[in-house]
Amino acid sequence: MDKTKKLLIIGAGEFAEIAYEYFSYDSVYEVAAFAVEQQFRDKDTLFGLPVSNFEEIAALYPPTEYDAFVAITYVQLNRARRRLYEACKAKGYRCASYISSHAFVWHNASIGENTFIFEDNTIQYHVQIGNNVVLWSGNHIGHRTVIEDDCWLTSHDVISGYCRIGRGSFIGVNATLGDQVTLGSDTVFGAAAVTVKSLPETGCVYVGSPAKKLNKTSYEQFGIPKPENE
Ligand SMILES: CC(C)(COP(=O)(O)OP(=O)(O)OC[C@H]1O[C@@H](n2cnc3c(N)ncnc32)[C@H](O)[C@@H]1OP(=O)(O)O)[C@@H](O)C(=O)NCCC(=O)NCCS
Repeated sequence: MDKTKKLLIIGAGEFAEIAYEYFSYDSVYEVAAFAVEQQFRDKDTLFGLPVSNFEEIAALYPPTEYDAFVAITYVQLNRARRRLYEACKAKGYRCASYISSHAFVWHNASIGENTFIFEDNTIQYHVQIGNNVVLWSGNHIGHRTVIEDDCWLTSHDVISGYCRIGRGSFIGVNATLGDQVTLGSDTVFGAAAVTVKSLPETGCVYVGSPAKKLNKTSYEQFGIPKPENE
């Protein structure tokens, strides 16, 4: 594929390595460098490219010439990725999305920025996927479903038609939502959990089939304070 754009990857861990691989082999982006917040930076190069201090990127890789991709996982219930995505936007970057050439995306689905869609995802008619969302491999996203910003879907989830997944949620492997199900923001929906009813409360953890709420919040699950004023 012709390389017509230059990309800066934020992060230098496993997901950043995977993002490097996928953008390099299956997109118009040429990865130019990585960047990590100075206090977390433990290497100078990765794949022969510089690993720079995040604090210095605007001078080194001007947002007029480079797009950014924040390759941070669901740590801190997706908050670390959200914070760095917002920091990139504040510096003036356009954030790149990656959509696998092996994903099926219907033409009128909408997909935000800093969103990463792996192989074998099926994204149907009029689906809306927000900014800063990751769909690992093999999910079914049914017609007219909305996945709000900052969500992380793992693999082989079945999200039926007309669902809504609230902002910042984490969906474990092999989870199933029946049609017209809404999950509240910051939901943690456990591996292989199933629901055909909406669970709109914010910040809950569910496991099992039918999904039952655990006696702890998703903030406690991820060891972060309950967010205020978001
Ligand atoms: C939801 C989740 C985060 C909860 O994990 P946890 O903190 O280890 O859960 P707890 O130890 O507090 O478990 C509480 C109870 O729920 C049960 N439980 C936990 N996860 C369960 C699951 N996925 N399905 C059914 N029951 C589950 C536990 O057995 C325990 O039951 P008990 O009180 O009768 O002993 C975890 O189960 C999960 O699904 N993680 C996602 C895994 C995944 O998809 N990984 C892919 C990442 S790419």
